[in-house]
Amino acid sequence: MKNKRIFLVILIVLLLGLAGCAAPKTEELPKFTLTELAEYDGKDGAKAYVAVDGKIYDVTDIEEWTAGEHYNGAMAGVDLSDLISKSPHGKGILNRAKLVGTLTE
Ligand code: HEM
Repeated sequence: MKNKRIFLVILIVLLLGLAGCAAPKTEELPKFTLTELAEYDGKDGAKAYVAVDGKIYDVTDIEEWTAGEHYNGAMAGVDLSDLISKSPHGKGILNRAKLVGTLTE
């Protein structure tokens, strides 16, 4: 019984460690300037990236983002930090998008 508990604790620690290694660290991600980000507008086969609070997310395969366009005029290829704060869903929804980079000067 006690052995089983120790085994479970070791397993959980190992799994958490693995998850930590798999998650990309923000500082290791590619950096984009606003000019570079503008190329990822989801048009003509380009990927659709959006910036929020210095982080860049890939929205290419998200159903609600077709060809880099979303609701209320939200477009890919730009910094949407202000607009997302005013959206009904807020920033929590970014969990559904993949983090692909960070914004630089
Ligand atoms: C990245 C910046 C984003 C901005 C600025 C933004 C902005 C908005 C705005 C302004 C609306 C309201 C539309 C209306 O009232 O007519 C909306 C709705 C919605 N957005 Fe976004 N959005 C963003 C990201 C996302 C992402 C990443 C997803 C999905 C993964 C998403 C999914 C939705 C959905 C499903 C709705 C419909 C209403 C709701 O469920 O809350 N949005 N968005």
